[in-house]
Amino acid sequence: MSAAPTTRRFGGLSARTRWGLGAGAALVVLVVLVVLARWAWGRPGVQDFVARYPGVATGAESAGTPAWVGILHFFNLFLMALMIKSGLLIHNTRRPAAHWTRRGRPWIARSRTRPATITLEQWFHVSLDLTWLAVGTTFFVLLLTSGRWVRLVPTSWDVVPNALSVVLQYLSLHWPHESTWIAYNALQMLAYFATVFILAPISAATGLRLSELWPKKAAINRYYPIERARAIHFPTMWLFAAFIVVHVAMVLATGAIANLNHMFGARDDDSLVGVVVCAVAVALVAGAWFAARPVLLRPLAALTGKVTR
Ligand code: HEM
Ligand code: HEM
Repeated sequence: MSAAPTTRRFGGLSARTRWGLGAGAALVVLVVLVVLARWAWGRPGVQDFVARYPGVATGAESAGTPAWVGILHFFNLFLMALMIKSGLLIHNTRRPAAHWTRRGRPWIARSRTRPATITLEQWFHVSLDLTWLAVGTTFFVLLLTSGRWVRLVPTSWDVVPNALSVVLQYLSLHWPHESTWIAYNALQMLAYFATVFILAPISAATGLRLSELWPKKAAINRYYPIERARAIHFPTMWLFAAFIVVHVAMVLATGAIANLNHMFGARDDDSLVGVVVCAVAVALVAGAWFAARPVLLRPLAALTGKVTR
């Protein structure tokens, strides 16, 4: 039996010790940055800079957060959690829990593809991916047609000094005065833009390349080898995970009740609707995370194909 990941040893240190050291080092860096930012805050030039660039980029306003944004955000976070789980399963599983074969005559078999048999873990990941692509496409279309894209896509270069100003304000522990119901600050704008318009498409494009369906002898293998796609696809998971940790920490630290009301309650008040809906959402994600075991995945996979051990 292989050792559990937490006890695996790298260069004499257990993985747990390395994670602990990494987290400790990150905390020290953060404290140093806070001290520097608080020192800088008192300088006259810095005050002028923050007054000139208070934090919201030009043209970023669009009124309110409608329910469709919250609903798609929920589906995204639900699927994202399970995509991370199933991706890690693919990465770590040496003995697949089962295999899945498309039922009937493989429609693509005549075109020199590999046999359409994949592991249960791959079936789980790819099923989530296809749903995520549908959710993502709906989000893109509604974002662009509703005009809400101005919140996420920078249209003025002043997004850069405004984002710097926000970094300085957060690090010096002066929360920016803003209403994210009307517009995100420049740092949020850049982070959301990068996640939605850069990271998600890269993850999808490299993931699609990893599919078993590509013909073995296709020209694509020469120009875009599968190894290159895997070398990019795996780290995109870490970038998503890093985004989520910082994102959720900032959502909670910068006015949790108001923020959760925006995204989980489609409202801008001080009720507890957003907190309650978010708690239900998180419970659903946690439930699905623990339920996603071979004993449940096998019958689900059997609905769309043949499952063999
Ligand atoms: C439990 C997990 C999560 C919570 C509690 C959460 C909460 C929120 C909240 C409150 C906002 C609005 C912020 C504001 O009004 O200032 C927001 C926006 C956003 N979140 Fe999350 N989030 C979570 C997970 C995720 C994940 C997994 C992703 C993507 C990987 C994500 C991507 C985004 C994006 C792109 C926006 C801006 C969307 C728009 O307004 O059009 N979030 N989130
Ligand atoms: C449309 C989106 C996506 C598609 C089509 C896709 C597809 C795939 C496929 C086919 C594999 C199997 C590779 C193999 O058999 O070796 C895979 C692996 C993986 N995927 Fe995705 N994926 C997508 C999005 C994501 C996302 C959003 C994440 C995480 C946030 C993720 C995390 C992973 C991980 C960790 C692996 C294992 C890679 C390895 O073993 O090195 N995927 N993906």
